[in-house]
Amino acid sequence: MSALRLEGVSKHFGAIHALSDVSLSIEPGEVIGLMGDNGAGKSTLVKVIAGNFAPSAGEIFISDTRVEFHKPLDAQRAGIEVVYQDLAICDNLSAAANVFLGRELTRRIGPIQILDYARMRIRAGELFARLKSETRPRDLVKRMSGGQRQAVAIARALLSDAKIVLMDEPTAAISVRQVAEVLNLIRYLSDHGIAVVLVSHRMPDVFQVADRIAVLRRGRLVASKRAADSSPEEVTGLITGAIEFA
Ligand SMILES: Nc1ncnc2c1ncn2[C@@H]1O[C@H](COP(=O)(O)OP(=O)(O)OP(=O)(O)O)[C@@H](O)[C@H]1O
Ligand SMILES: [Mg+2]
Repeated sequence: MSALRLEGVSKHFGAIHALSDVSLSIEPGEVIGLMGDNGAGKSTLVKVIAGNFAPSAGEIFISDTRVEFHKPLDAQRAGIEVVYQDLAICDNLSAAANVFLGRELTRRIGPIQILDYARMRIRAGELFARLKSETRPRDLVKRMSGGQRQAVAIARALLSDAKIVLMDEPTAAISVRQVAEVLNLIRYLSDHGIAVVLVSHRMPDVFQVADRIAVLRRGRLVASKRAADSSPEEVTGLITGAIEFA
């Protein structure tokens, strides 16, 4: 049973065909590296899966059940978490507050319901420890590095019991050491049965963690093959069009 399956998904913006007839399936625990040139449709595909855009045509299945998302919350409830580079993280809040954003823990004092900061800090601390991240629950996100921010976003994914994590260019703007940290987080998710879609321009990152590589060119899926059966040279050819199809 696949974690996620797209069948004939298209997305048009007026005359622009951002996605044309894309069919792709992802198994639990599988890491797919989604590659393609600027404007190839990668972010659009992520946004369609995440419920930001309704597809113009085609169907989406989660664990073999057809789904229709009208808003990002629908996708989140179906087990999809999106990790953006900076987005969706509140700079002026602590790491713990971000992990629990929108699903805060509360406790009652008599008739009053109050936020349970202590319990949220403890739970967040446990999640960071599981992720082997140095992030501390009280740290303010605005003082964090790109890699630490992603640990926060991934802790959110673990908390929500996500089945599929979508990452759009997570390693584009961070240091070498942080890239290694993020790749480790991806492996952690995969080891725990979570399917990961990694959008990246960085060939070495993709080949280090991806089980399969999918290439979009002008909105069309021109390859979806095992990383072990491909090479950076072939993928570059597929991205540019020097190689038509693989
Ligand atoms: N909201 C939108 N309205 C109109 N056109 C859009 C919108 N979003 C994307 N597009 C167009 O759809 C096409 C695919 O864009 P998309 O952002 O998915 O590319 P991408 O592969 O993520 O590129 P990059 O590598 O630059 O991030 C582009 O031609 C883009 O201009
Ligand atoms: Mg993009």
